[in-house]
Order: sequence, then C-alpha cells, then structure tokens
Amino acid sequence: MKARSEFPNTALLLPFALCFATFLAGCGGSGVSLTISSTPPPPPPTDPDQRADLLIAQMTETEKLQLVHGNLPLPPYPTPPPHGAVYWVPGITRLSIPDQLAADGPAGLGDNVGQATALPSPLANAASWDLSEASKYGTVIGKETSAFGMNISLGGNLNLIGREPRDGRTFETGGEDPFLSGEINAQHLLGIQNQYVIAGVKHFALNDQETGRTQVNAVIDERSAQESDLLAFQIALAGSNAQMTMCAYSLMNGVYDCQNNHLLNDILKGEWNFPGFVLSDDYATQSSVPSALAGLDQEQSYGYYFTGIWSAESLQAALANGDMPASRLDNMVHRILRAMYAAGVFDHPATVAPIDAAGDGAIAQEIEEQGAVLLKNANNQLPLNQQAIQSVAIIGSHADVGVLSGGGSAQVTPVGGAALALPSACPPNLPAPGGAACTNASVIYDPSSPLAAIKAIAPAATVTYNDGTSSAAAASLAASSAVAIVFVSDWESEGMDRVDLSFPDGQDALVAAVAAANPHTVVVLENGGAHVMPWLESVNAVLEAWYPGQLGGTAIGDLLFGKVNPSGKLPITFPAQVADLPRPVIPTPSTTSGSFNVDYMVDGLNVGYKWYQSQNIKPLFAFGYGLSYTTFSISGVQLTPDPSPANGFQVSINLKNTGNVSGAEVVQVYLGFPSGMGEPPLRLVGWNKALLQAGVQQPVTITVNAADASHPLSYWDNATSAWKIAPGVYTVYVGNSSDNVQPAGTFQIGS
Ligand code: BGC
Repeated sequence: MKARSEFPNTALLLPFALCFATFLAGCGGSGVSLTISSTPPPPPPTDPDQRADLLIAQMTETEKLQLVHGNLPLPPYPTPPPHGAVYWVPGITRLSIPDQLAADGPAGLGDNVGQATALPSPLANAASWDLSEASKYGTVIGKETSAFGMNISLGGNLNLIGREPRDGRTFETGGEDPFLSGEINAQHLLGIQNQYVIAGVKHFALNDQETGRTQVNAVIDERSAQESDLLAFQIALAGSNAQMTMCAYSLMNGVYDCQNNHLLNDILKGEWNFPGFVLSDDYATQSSVPSALAGLDQEQSYGYYFTGIWSAESLQAALANGDMPASRLDNMVHRILRAMYAAGVFDHPATVAPIDAAGDGAIAQEIEEQGAVLLKNANNQLPLNQQAIQSVAIIGSHADVGVLSGGGSAQVTPVGGAALALPSACPPNLPAPGGAACTNASVIYDPSSPLAAIKAIAPAATVTYNDGTSSAAAASLAASSAVAIVFVSDWESEGMDRVDLSFPDGQDALVAAVAAANPHTVVVLENGGAHVMPWLESVNAVLEAWYPGQLGGTAIGDLLFGKVNPSGKLPITFPAQVADLPRPVIPTPSTTSGSFNVDYMVDGLNVGYKWYQSQNIKPLFAFGYGLSYTTFSISGVQLTPDPSPANGFQVSINLKNTGNVSGAEVVQVYLGFPSGMGEPPLRLVGWNKALLQAGVQQPVTITVNAADASHPLSYWDNATSAWKIAPGVYTVYVGNSSDNVQPAGTFQIGS
C-alpha cells in the first residue's frame, strides 16, 4: 500500500485551463480568425516529481532558499509559528506553495499545539505486535495534525535502543528489533501520510543514548550498522513511502550525521533510493555548504547555518562563488516539494477543525489494551473477580488521579489537561531556543485514574488509595485488603538517560513491603522501557502497562479484571542486571564540546535479544515474551522451503487456545543462519497475531520472502557493499517468545 500521492494541483491546473479557454475564445481577440485545433493541450502532470519541477522552474533563488530553512520565533521571524508548530517554513503565496508546519511526535502531537490525544507510548504500540493497531495509531496522529492546521509530523522514532536500554527515549521507539520496529513504524507512518500529512523517520542514525547526545561518535562497522540500526529505517521507509528523514545530533564513524555523505547520500538516497527530503534535528546542523553537499535538504529551527547567520558562508554566497552548484539547491527544493505533493499537502490542505477526542481516545484505549504485557501471573492471581472481590488497596504513582506519560519533545498535553504536572529538574541534554538553558520540565500525568476505573468495575468492593510515600502505611493498608495493587512508575524523557534499570524513589522497597504484608500483591508498571525487579519472586502478578495514554486508567482496569485478555509481547529484552548490558557504564563525555567514542562494535549486529543469546546470558524477561489469561499450544509444525530455497519459506502450525477464555497469541518465527557467519543465534523474520476463542484450533501460516526490505535471509557483505545470501544450512524456529522456540526444520542453500 502506498500513501495517496497523485492529486493534481489546482495552482498548476489554473494556467493550463486559462490558456485553453483563451485559446478557444480566440486568444486575446486579435481579430484574426483561428483554426480550432482538435488536440487539447496535454493534461498537467500528476507525478510528484514532475509537478515539483514545474514549480521550481518558476522560482527565484531567494524563494528556493526560503524553502530549505525552518524557523523558530527567533530573528528573522520573531513571531511564534502558526498553530503552535514546532518549526515552520513560510510558503510562497505567489506560487500557491503552502506553509510547511510541523507538529512533534511520535506519541501524539507534541505539547506546543495545546491539548491533543495522548496515545500510549509508541513502545506500547510495538508491544501489540499488531500492524492494524499501528496503522490506527498513525491515523490518529495524521488526523489530529491536520485538524491543528499542520502538514508535517515529526515521528516515528526508529532508534534501536536495545543498545542502551537506559536511553531516556526508549518509550518513543518501536523497540530493539529492526524488523519489528521497522514494520510497526511503517504502518504508523502510512497512517499519518494517508491523512495528507508528511510523515518522518528519526533520528538517522545510531542516536541510541541521550547522554552527550550531540557528541556521541558511534563507532561501528558497515555490516553491523546495515543489519541493525540502519535496517530499521530501511524497512520503515520502504513500507511507508514516508517523505522525510530527520538526521540526528550524533556522529557516525567520525562525521556528524547531518553532514555525513556516506549516511545521507550513499546509503539513504543512493542504496535506498529515498526520494524525499532530509531535515536536520533541531540544532543538529553543523555547517552550511558541507551539510548541503552531504545530503541535508532542510535545516530545522535551531540552525541558522544555511542563512549564514551562524556560518561563515551562507548557501546564497556559496551559489554566487561556485562553492555549491545551483543544481544542488534545485535538488533540495525538489525533494521538499515532491514530498509535499506525494503526501497530498497541496491538494488536501490542512484545515483547522476540532479533533475527534472521543473517537481518538477510544483508539488510545484499544492500543493500550493490545500492548500491555502480562509478565507474571502466579496462582492465577489475575484476572480479579469483579463480583467476588471485597477489598482492594491501590498504592502509589498517583493512581488516584491519572497515569504517567513520557517527557521531552514527545510530550503530549492530553485532552482535558494534565491530571497532575509535577515540576522536575531539566533533563541535562534538552534543547532550548538559541542554546539557552532549559528552565522548567514537568512530569505529566494523563487524566485517566486507575483508582476511579477500578471503583467503577467493582462497585461493591472497598477500594482504598494510599500514595505509597510511607511503605509502612501502604503495607498496613495492604494487610487489611484482599488484594494489593501497587503502581510503580519511572519517568523517562528526551535529554536524559536513566541512571540504572531500577525504579526510583524507593519504589522497590515499597513493593517489597506491600508484598510482605499481602500474598495477593499485583504490580502495575508505568514506565518507558526495561526494568529489573528485585521483588519479582514475592509478588503474584506483574502487568507492564508502559505509558498507557489518554485512557490508560480505564484500560488498566479492564485488563486487571479480565474484561480484556492481555496479549502484548515484549518488544525489548528486560535484562536481569545492569552488568549484563553491552556497556554496563553509560559512555559519558568528559567535556561539553567535541565528540567522544561509543563503541558499538561490542554488540555490533547483536542488538537486544541477539546480544543476550550470543553471550549465553539469561534475561529477566526475553524479547517476544508475554502471558495471557488463557494458554495456547502449537502443534503440526511444518516448514516448506520455496522450491528455490534462497527465495524464502513458509512455516505452518496449528495454534490452539487450550484455556477457558478467548485470547490472542503472537506466533513468532526466528531464523538461525549457517554457522561461522557471525550472525546472531536467532533473527526474528516473521510473526502472526491470532485471536482464538476458547478451545478453538486454527492453522497459522507465516511466509518469509527473501526479497522483502527486511532482507530476512541475507547478510551485509562488506567486501561488495551489498546484501548477499550465504550458502549453508538454515534452521527455522517457531514459538511464542525469543527464548521459547522449537525447531521447525532446516533448509539448505547451495550445495
Ligand atoms: C528532538 C526531535 C524533535 C525536535 C523538535 C529535538 O530535540 O530530538 O525528536 O522532533 O527536537 O522538537
């Protein structure tokens, strides 16, 4: 499926129509009698590239330069951007080129715009392993972006944070696997772009930690990069027709990403044939001419390099003295305009309108219900019995008023306003206009109270809240309640990493105290990414709710009481301890200027679960893991290689719901490569989420096509700079988690 892209531009149609009308009427009434031709002029082009070129032919150099620079409320554009856009490029009225107006992403619309639907975190969306939910997620963002009068969405985030699970932006991403993240993000981006909004991917590339994020020099070999971080972007772009790529603050192999010719020109625009434009992250531009020549097409707000305000040579000067050819400026403008045409921005201008808060909120709830992951359920503690339960203690994390959300540029101001906004210290790496220090940050709770939801579901029960600030008081309430539900949370934000994988502020001790007081303790996690759980053995149940969004409290209530059966699976590994990470200590710069190396050769192409498997380290919870209130069996496993095995294969199984309630299972297919290739033990190559009624058995077939953008059977060959399929014996595995698979069979490629 492609974004709707072929809409004629009325601005271009007009001259054709006028000319044709004049022609029919006698062309200016010269008095000369005309022979009316029977051949009308050719119709205007519908191809976005041709349409872009027709416009460029009419543009002055000044107009072209205007389109390659984004603006903030800073000189020379001192007024705030229209509609609360995070950056904007004024249009050109004379040519009917609309303003470019961007809203931040990827968890909904960034808080500049005012109140919008706060979706569950993108990581929760990935945890649904459900492409249709991802498409709905993007559609909400696309519709609301347009309703706020804007036409660019700055999301999704494809950074592979499995390299650094403490990364404060983990919640914004699609997880640690390039295939899962790439496919989920592709649907998210398609959903946006189908609403006539330009969708973008970010932050290209290897922007995998926030500590010293503008200084990180990612040191990595080509094969590892191609098979991990870059692959996620490649899959998302190929599957979405997304028209914008945001280059990152960081460096790759010694060169800043936004002036990295290899990254932008060779790989993105060359190998991948990306037709859209490259936009710098806020202040990621480092130069004018070198960046433009390396492939940067538009600088975002905090950069004033192209204009010559912050650089020795403006693009205008470079054009005059020959340092940059005019053809390069034309190409930059071409890419921007073709993106606008391809997304339908010219033909379907954004119109300010009220958002569908009720409809979009319902989708937010559905996504949370599909993305929450049941991590533990001893003694069938869950679901709670709506009728029988007599008393419930609700403890901690402001569960009386709302649910936690993630901070930074992905922060959404929820519909109805924040239930609670707690002041926070500024994340150390957060940007501020013109480089000024950040002055305030807030920890925002979305207005959906788990306490209220649980009271509504179990009206006959005594439901009591304790804020958890005193472990003794919380334990005392727990001791006198039939069930104790402890909410633990951890705020993540752009601009900072977590110091470790623990829950902060004594929450681990709180859980331990409550669990000691009540054997029926349930823990609900509201967090951005992976955590260790020293109290795990002492509690009966753990529900991973992520940052659950606008109706998160309602969704959590429905999940705890079994109105909805959990079916999410982890899109990231939860390590057992910090010492198991590829880099146990987060690499940190010693000065605030210059770059410092982060050695990604340590994990190389083995990001996330691939790392733990290659090192024989058992994680706390594996990638792909998640429980249900029912059970499933897999039988009749059959592998059918293509007659030409290098083309791919099919895996068929019978999936049976062996429990008493309906539920969904995610069947996962992993591939083991021939030995000696340096590939990870297992690589996710396919999955299928199937919903089955109790007792029902259903065949499930997963097809793996070698020609897909995910290159499922290939490795990157450094010698020839190409994807190759190696001869040898391949083993196919099927299961319901990366650490719970069975062999489906083997096939041989070559002799
Ligand atoms: C972030 C981007 C964001 C941009 C605009 C940057 O600091 O890294 O993800 O889109 O700000 O707000």
